[in-house]
Amino acid sequence: MCGIVGYVGKSDATDYLLQGLYRLEYRGYDSAGLSMLRDDGVLERRRSVGRIANLDVLVRESPVASRIGIGHTRWATHGAATVANAHPHFGGQSDLSLVHNGVIENYAELKHQLMESGYFFQSETDTEVIAHLLHQSIAEQRARGLFDDDSPVCYATALREVVGRLRGTYGLVVMFQGKPDFLLAARCGSPLVIGVGQGEQFIASDPAPLHGKTDKVITLVDHQIAIVTSRSIQVIQRDSVTVQPNIQVLAQGEDSHSCDGHDHFMHKEIYQQPEAIRNALRGRLDRDSATAKLGGLNLTAPQLRHIERLILTGCGTSWHSALIGEYMIEEIARMPVEVEYASELRYRNPPVDKQTLVFGITQSGETADTLAALREMRRKGHPTLAICNNIGSSIAREADGGIYLHAGPEIGVASTKAFTSQVVVLGLLALYFGRMRHLSFEAGLRWIDALEGLADQVELALQTEEQIKQIALEFKDSTNVLYLGRNYLFPTALEGALKLKEISYIHAEGYPAAEMKHGPIALVDEHTPSVFLLSKGLVYDKIMSNLQEVKARGGPVIAITDSVDAQLEKLADRVILVPSVPEPLQPIISVVPLQLLAYHIALLRNCDVDKPRNLAKSVTVE
Ligand code: AGP
Repeated sequence: MCGIVGYVGKSDATDYLLQGLYRLEYRGYDSAGLSMLRDDGVLERRRSVGRIANLDVLVRESPVASRIGIGHTRWATHGAATVANAHPHFGGQSDLSLVHNGVIENYAELKHQLMESGYFFQSETDTEVIAHLLHQSIAEQRARGLFDDDSPVCYATALREVVGRLRGTYGLVVMFQGKPDFLLAARCGSPLVIGVGQGEQFIASDPAPLHGKTDKVITLVDHQIAIVTSRSIQVIQRDSVTVQPNIQVLAQGEDSHSCDGHDHFMHKEIYQQPEAIRNALRGRLDRDSATAKLGGLNLTAPQLRHIERLILTGCGTSWHSALIGEYMIEEIARMPVEVEYASELRYRNPPVDKQTLVFGITQSGETADTLAALREMRRKGHPTLAICNNIGSSIAREADGGIYLHAGPEIGVASTKAFTSQVVVLGLLALYFGRMRHLSFEAGLRWIDALEGLADQVELALQTEEQIKQIALEFKDSTNVLYLGRNYLFPTALEGALKLKEISYIHAEGYPAAEMKHGPIALVDEHTPSVFLLSKGLVYDKIMSNLQEVKARGGPVIAITDSVDAQLEKLADRVILVPSVPEPLQPIISVVPLQLLAYHIALLRNCDVDKPRNLAKSVTVE
């Protein structure tokens, strides 16, 4: 997703702007740019396609000494990844410079009106429309003698008028020709934070660029506009009332934007899973009552006891963890659960009864479809809760309550520790609801024991990496891979397939193993490996039959299993043994070799593991 940085203060802006963009790289982008203000008040900009390193070279080759500036990484929505479409965009000739994250849905009609008024567009973007609209608004107010060029509030008022005409989402920062003292920041649907410094302020899409700059941060909320100077931050509400900004202190943990000795963030985050699981469980297991302690639900036990159905909604990997959550909660708490793609739930208007509680599952807390689905369910009067990793994110703030993952920042675009942490939290939820209903004290304690033992078992699963590397070498040139599992390992198969396709660009599909017979087995030949996920349990014999069906058609088989027998040894081409845990928690163990397999195959294919093509870490647009 697009990334925004802004700086005004006592130092040269370029250093913060470039370093800030580097720290936002993980969000995914395809072009980047900066704007600075020359001493003579003229706005300059540098823009490039591809990696920020390209922009870095450009800026260093022709630097502009400036103590104010804005920067942007663009994930293309309207218009291809070109220099002309890269932000910042100028309003008027170069009277103002603006960066934007979000999508303006009515940009076409506004663009038409502007062109009718004589504006010339240099790009295909919706963002340039905002820039020219602001220029036009200021010009019209000046013409009516209503504009004081020395008053930043006048500029903010003009911006208020402009954003009132926009339909869609925006996080935007603006700077003005001849105005070295202030930036404007405005937010509706796309996050913006302001880092509070000493004689300097740092604006960013998320706190990542603030590391090492400040731990004091103001999170703008929707419809607020901020006037940011080196010594002040004035936050103005939609009703034009100035409010006292709420300054929060960021937890200054280890620098989450360093790989800590790993070659990639994804590898680091795969290995952080044991610690992330411990963090997700910390303080949430109550042995005295054999249940879970979930303080953030903000719903009383009697209120929760009246809940008869859950909806779990999310996207991508978060939708996969929701599927596992469905199986867990239905088995352990005997509660009906529906899993919905957020992008579907927000529009399909399903009948939902009054006793339904809706959970949004999301690592970033900014996924547009998940946010919109939760807003729709809240509009209908349903309580909505978030299972989220990003504290202070839009979804975390708007939900009625929720459960944080505490997994720490996940930088790699391919989700790993967030997935396993989500499944752990769903396990806590299953225990909590189960113990509100029929789950016995002893069964609750057994579940707590299983949860507490998980981190150590994941440590063991990580030890399969050397074997995985060999398998990756053998199958790296595949063009199609099937992932097959049953019961809890079916959603795990979906997740394994998503990992492979999103970072190695190999086509991969996850299926319930029994589904093979209904079509996919036509894909099986000696060039199409099938990854089978097995665990000794209810459906082991059934999935062994499916494995034999694949072998009978010459398909190579990679088996990820918690137990090995002679038949499996004989049939499977490669066998990876992982620890055995209770079936509902087996996904957390069995997914680890799948994450490593995707990682190593992607490496061998020289793919950008942390920033795969076309993808963004947080999809804040529809
Ligand atoms: C998973 O590896 C992908 N990065 C993607 O599917 C992701 O899970 C999805 O976009 C949802 O993101 P969220 O959890 O931040 O809402």
